[in-house]
Amino acid sequence: MSLDQRIAVVTGSGSGIGRASALEFAIVGAKIVVADINLAGASETVERIVSQGGKAIAVRTDVADPESVRNLVSETIAAFGAVHILMNNAAIQINKTVEDTEVEEWNREMAVNVGGVFLTCKYFFPHLRKSKGNIINMSSVNGFFTEPMCAGYCATKAAIIGLTKAMAIDHGKEGIRVNCICPGYIDAGLAEGYFNVQPDPEAARNAAGKLHALWRIGRPEEVGRAAVFLASDAASFITGAAFTVDGGLSSGLPPQA
Ligand SMILES: NC(=O)c1ccc[n+]([C@@H]2O[C@H](COP(=O)([O-])OP(=O)(O)OC[C@H]3O[C@@H](n4cnc5c(N)ncnc54)[C@H](O)[C@@H]3O)[C@@H](O)[C@H]2O)c1
Repeated sequence: MSLDQRIAVVTGSGSGIGRASALEFAIVGAKIVVADINLAGASETVERIVSQGGKAIAVRTDVADPESVRNLVSETIAAFGAVHILMNNAAIQINKTVEDTEVEEWNREMAVNVGGVFLTCKYFFPHLRKSKGNIINMSSVNGFFTEPMCAGYCATKAAIIGLTKAMAIDHGKEGIRVNCICPGYIDAGLAEGYFNVQPDPEAARNAAGKLHALWRIGRPEEVGRAAVFLASDAASFITGAAFTVDGGLSSGLPPQA
């Protein structure tokens, strides 16, 4: 699977799954726009890509802010002249019930997780139409089934599956594919935050591993390699898919010890 000379924009790639995906895209030849609200994290991702022989730029971006997203589009086109892959990975997770969630927290979570997908797609579509490119949105198995204490987050991940399918049918005839990835627990920032608010974080982490048929949580690069596949021509007839990368978490009850 080659992405040689393709230009990939990856939001939230200053850490975790986004960074790992950016690195995997670069390994197969893509040039990367590392877009993150955390510029230090984004710059570190760029350094890692460059040190492995790739090309990348960092653009500080708040995906919830239309002006910031329009700036991301301008910087991308100024640096590379086109965009072929848009990976919407940036997200936040409020680990609370609805009753305990502050109105400001709810609004920000919706604005980043769902609004961010809307804004980047809206402003990158003219360029994706030219390149017959594709979009990969980051959902979660929490888009299919929920867990305690992250109601708003689960709602955003379900919304992303719906938005993915809607954009796939609206833009398929233009040659644009739109898919989403639904990971299980992955050893990265948002899962870490969820474990840390449980009464016994280490026990929660161990228990989470055993929910998966493969008896462990996943690694960020395991999601990144699925993103490479979906972005590549090898996935040319795949659109509107909610692609699980979950070690069997959503397949049923895991084997017992
Ligand atoms: N870690 C998991 O177990 C897991 C499981 C399923 C799905 N996911 C999804 O994977 C994605 C990445 O999660 P992660 O665990 O790597 O988290 P992470 O916290 O390591 O990475 C998220 C990145 O998004 C950035 N970000 C936050 N708000 C932003 C904004 N407004 N604009 C731009 N960037 C912003 C952060 O700075 C950070 O670099 C998320 O969409 C998450 O829902 C994660």
